[in-house]
Amino acid sequence: MSVFLDACAKKPTPYTPIWLMRQAGRYQPSYRAIREKVSFMELCRSPALCSEVAQRAVSDLGVDAAIVFSDILVVLEPLGIGFEFTKDDGPKIGKPVRERADVDRVNGEIDAAGSLAYVMDAIKTTKKDLAGKVPLIGFSGAPFTLASYAIEGGGSREYLHTKKLMYADEGAFSALMTKLADAIGRYLNAQIDAGAECVQLFDSWVGTLSVEDYVRYVQPHTKRALDAIKGRVPVIHFGTGNPALYPAMKAAGGDVIGIDARTDLGVTWDVLGDVAVQGNLESIALLGSKETLWRKVDAVLAAAKGRRGHVFNLGHGILPSADIATARALVDYVHEKSAR
Ligand code: CP3
Repeated sequence: MSVFLDACAKKPTPYTPIWLMRQAGRYQPSYRAIREKVSFMELCRSPALCSEVAQRAVSDLGVDAAIVFSDILVVLEPLGIGFEFTKDDGPKIGKPVRERADVDRVNGEIDAAGSLAYVMDAIKTTKKDLAGKVPLIGFSGAPFTLASYAIEGGGSREYLHTKKLMYADEGAFSALMTKLADAIGRYLNAQIDAGAECVQLFDSWVGTLSVEDYVRYVQPHTKRALDAIKGRVPVIHFGTGNPALYPAMKAAGGDVIGIDARTDLGVTWDVLGDVAVQGNLESIALLGSKETLWRKVDAVLAAAKGRRGHVFNLGHGILPSADIATARALVDYVHEKSAR
């Protein structure tokens, strides 16, 4: 066992484990050097390079878990929803899913181990190279976050098309979400078969919804995806943007609820009750003064009150403008301050 997996299982740990979402990425000069030679998707399709960047994050930072290098969007390809990473504007979907006929073309019954073999190979290679040093986390986007990418065609502020489909044709929206949930279940099962020791479900965009809409349009589908992997490995269920959603997210599933930096960790944990909690330092605190950074880390640890089941993390991904030395100092500080 490991400190990280013990915390996910709410067992006592000698200190609070920590990893950082997006811990392999552009804030590292070594990552940028690889990206000068290969495109983002070439990197994702190379198990050796995926392993190299995932491991480099662990050695640069001293974190307690590795995460497989990939992206939440790669599962869209076998679903029949093409996408590409443009140079400057992030991901783009060529033909967004906007109406019933588009939904009918989506294939939820993916053969994940075959069509996403490069992800499974990345998991196998990374796990072998880690040699048991720290556990390896697999991941997927959650049904709503993937649906909103597929429907909007890219990033969005209003989620107009997503909410329009949801409210105008609930049957079509629900059919899309069911297909996504089935694909995600298959995808996560394949990752666990390949060796992932924990999985995180990213519902990064779910905070655009009210609790009422979440419960009606999203919760059953997220539950369907998580029920497909029930009992296999610990699941981190992460969402941002609307603290009121966390109890409903917990009800959908997950051993660890991942919360964002806007959320009061202590209050939310009291409300959630019997579950582990991941988070929730403001990512931008890594760009501020050391004094403010330590004050904010102390506040997160104080809110957690040494409860069993705290996994320290940022409230969202580490920013490209963060620096490695500060991120490393954060990891060391959390380990020292939480030692018990
Ligand atoms: O955490 C890790 O180290 C593992 C790798 C990982 C990436 N993306 C690599 C990546 C993970 C877990 C993700 C998840 C992801 N991808 C999410 C959910 C988490 C979140 O931050 O909310 C989302 C919404 C995406 C979609 C995505 N991928 C966007 C919007 C972008 C472009 C924006 C950006 O930050 O550039 C990506 C590209 C991407 N995924 C990069 C990395 C390192 C940058 C690509 C590059 O090298 O240029």
